[in-house]
Amino acid sequence: TKVSLIGAPTDIGAGARGASMGPEAMRVAQIGPTLEAHGIEVFDRGNLQGPPNPWLPPVDGFRHLHEVAAWNNAVHEAVHAELKLGHLPILLGGDHCLGIGSISAVARHCRETGKKLRILWLDAHADFNTAVLTPSGNIHGMPVACLCGHGPQELIEIGGKVPAISPKWIRQIGIRSVDAGEKKFVHEMGLEVFDMRYIDEMGMRHAMELALATLDENTHLHVSFDVDFLDPQIAPGVGTVIPGGPTYREAQLCMEMIADTGRLASLDVMELNPALDVRNQTAVLAVDLIESLFGKSTLMRK
Ligand code: ARG
Ligand code: MN
Ligand code: MN
Ligand code: MN
Repeated sequence: TKVSLIGAPTDIGAGARGASMGPEAMRVAQIGPTLEAHGIEVFDRGNLQGPPNPWLPPVDGFRHLHEVAAWNNAVHEAVHAELKLGHLPILLGGDHCLGIGSISAVARHCRETGKKLRILWLDAHADFNTAVLTPSGNIHGMPVACLCGHGPQELIEIGGKVPAISPKWIRQIGIRSVDAGEKKFVHEMGLEVFDMRYIDEMGMRHAMELALATLDENTHLHVSFDVDFLDPQIAPGVGTVIPGGPTYREAQLCMEMIADTGRLASLDVMELNPALDVRNQTAVLAVDLIESLFGKSTLMRK
């Protein structure tokens, strides 16, 4: 496998500053050498550029809409170029609004190559708000809705096709914070959600078996990993901390079961906020989990 690291150093869609330092924290935690130690060829493409964060209040339900669009256009082109080269892109965020650019690029690549797409959205949040539903105006709470065609023109058109994806292609895992209006919209659109209650009752194993069911040789598997998916006791370095997330063991199993499919073809690592972290422990944990996602296991597997 050839992996390309793409840094997107911005917190343009977030409600707290600091995710702009995420890419460098992942490099400091040795994301590159760690993957190389597993026989993966790693191409670090450095960081994308985009507008600075003006830190202004929302306008018509969106904070920093034009800046968010500029960053997402840059991400879209960079991710698409790597896929075209046959590399597996890892987007180092940056806040989760950049999922629009990344996943629209993956969807475009799948259209161009006749692949099916499955998206695993690992997150405490559904990120399915719209301008009227959002309590904050922060666009990192809206990428899934935008990808499904519900959002402002300049964001939903980034992939060239509207909607970029169907809600049917998504499986959300670890969800435990959904706003009131957002909850109704998730239900209306029929998103498949394995929330924390489901994981408590049925276990991570069963949740992942269902989330990964019906993949075939022709499926491109994309993982959008919002680091706030993890329990904040082990992963404090995020801007929107929600208690009650997956434990270390549950998160490892989740990653290992994804690795076992052999279908992983693109990855986002989002919302890491070094300004709120403790001695880079959240970045170190993310790298540890990504090793498992790329096939590290304790023993040889049959
Ligand atoms: N639901 C909240 C909002 O829309 C929080 C979203 C958090 N999203 C994230 N990617 N961390 O403002
Ligand atoms: Mn989140
Ligand atoms: Mn998110
Ligand atoms: Mn590991």
